[in-house]
Amino acid sequence: MAEADPSMLDLPEGWPTPGPEAAQHSLALCRELSRRIEAEGGLSFHDWMEAVLYAPGLGYYMAGAARFGAAGDFVTAPEISPLFGRTLAQQCRQILMDCDGDTILELGPGRGRLAFDILQEMDRADALPERYLLLDRSGPLRQEQEQTLAALSAEARARVQWLNELPERPIRGLILANEVLDALPVERFRRLDHDIEQLTVGLENKLFAPRWRSAPAALRTQVEALEADLGRRFEHGYVSECCPGTAPWIASLGDSLDRGVMLLIDYGYTRREYYHTDRRDGTLRCHYRHRAHDDWRLIPGLQDLTAYVDFTAVAISARQARLDILGFAPQAHFLMGAGITDLLASGSALDNQDADGMRLAQQAKALMLPGEMGERFRVLALGRQFPTPIKAFRLYNHLEKL
Ligand SMILES: C[S@@+](CC[C@H](N)C(=O)[O-])C[C@H]1O[C@@H](n2cnc3c(N)ncnc32)[C@H](O)[C@@H]1O
Repeated sequence: MAEADPSMLDLPEGWPTPGPEAAQHSLALCRELSRRIEAEGGLSFHDWMEAVLYAPGLGYYMAGAARFGAAGDFVTAPEISPLFGRTLAQQCRQILMDCDGDTILELGPGRGRLAFDILQEMDRADALPERYLLLDRSGPLRQEQEQTLAALSAEARARVQWLNELPERPIRGLILANEVLDALPVERFRRLDHDIEQLTVGLENKLFAPRWRSAPAALRTQVEALEADLGRRFEHGYVSECCPGTAPWIASLGDSLDRGVMLLIDYGYTRREYYHTDRRDGTLRCHYRHRAHDDWRLIPGLQDLTAYVDFTAVAISARQARLDILGFAPQAHFLMGAGITDLLASGSALDNQDADGMRLAQQAKALMLPGEMGERFRVLALGRQFPTPIKAFRLYNHLEKL
C-alpha cells in the first residue's frame, strides 16, 4: 500500500497550518495519489488537478472545509457583494422576457450567494422565474446552498430545485456560471524546439515531483492547433495550459438550452492575450487562505487550483455546439450595461440589512475597478434563438476580440 509522508504537508514558513482533521484528510488524499502514481507510472497534471479538486470525499470541493469568503481561501464576486447578483437579476429579467423563458439554471453555485441575490431581487420586482435550478459537482456544498437559500421568501424558495445532472429536457431561459470554467482541470504543456511535453506528477524521495514527458497525441494535436491559430510556434521552454474539458462542457450545456442565453463569467483572456509571448509560465494559480501562489504540490485537497480561461476556446466550442456568440465584455462594462449604477443611485441596493452606503461603494469598486475584478473578469454570452440584443452589452461588446 502506498505511503504518505507527513512532509507532503509542509508549508512555507509563517503560513497557517491546517488543523489535525484537515491534515488527516490531506494525508488520505496523498496516499490515494501516491497509489495511483505507482500503479499508473505517473499522473498527467490534468488527472492530478481533477483528483485534488474532485476526488470523491477527498478533493478540495468534495469535502467539508471552508473554501469561500474571509475564513476560506478566496472570494468570488457574489461573496464580495449582493450588488453583483442584484445587477445580474436585471439582466435575467430581460433574457427571460425576450425568449419567453421560465427557467434559470446555475452551474457551480458554490455557497448559493448568487442564487440568493438574484432570486431576492426578482422576488422584489415580482418577476420570479418559474424554476431556479442548481447543479454543482460538489455534493457537500449543497448543504451550504440550502442554508443560504433558507432566508428567501417562501415563494422564492419554492422555485429552487437541485439537480444531480443536467436537465433531461432542454430549458428555455438562462444558463449561468460564475467562476466555473476556471475550475475545470487543465493540462500543462511545454514547447521545446523539437518536441511538445506534458507535465506529469511522479514521486521522488516519497514526495510529489513534476516530471515532463513527451506529450501524448491528443495534447500534441491541441497545442499544434493553438500554434496554427496563433500563427506562431511557441518559443523553446514556453509553458502554458489548455483545458480539454471546455468543449464537451459547452456542448453539454448547449444540448440543455432549447432557447435563450448562457452567461459565463470568469477571469480569462482572449487567445492572443492568454498565449502572449511574455506569459511564459501559463496562468495556473493556487489559493490557500488568501495566498495566491504557484506550488500546486502543496497540501493536496486543502488548496484551490485554478487556471485562467481561454475565452476564444470557449467561443470555438460554442460555434461547434451551434450556439450563437452574443456578447463579450469586461465585467465592469457588463455590470454598468446591466444597470449597476442605476441600482446604486436608486438606493434600492441599500435595503439589505447589513449594507450601508459606504460599504456598498467599496464593494462596487471591488467589482468594477480595472485593478480589481473589473477588467480581469470577462463575461461571455452565448445564445440559441435569442431574438434581441442583450442589454448588458449595450455599452461595450468586443466580439471581434475573440
Ligand atoms: C470557484 S467555485 C465558484 C462558486 C460560485 N459560482 C461563486 O462564484 O462563488 C467553482 C464551483 O464550480 C463547481 N464545479 C466545477 N465543475 C463543475 C461542473 N462541471 N458542473 C457544475 N459545477 C462545477 C465547483 O464544485 C465549485 O462549486
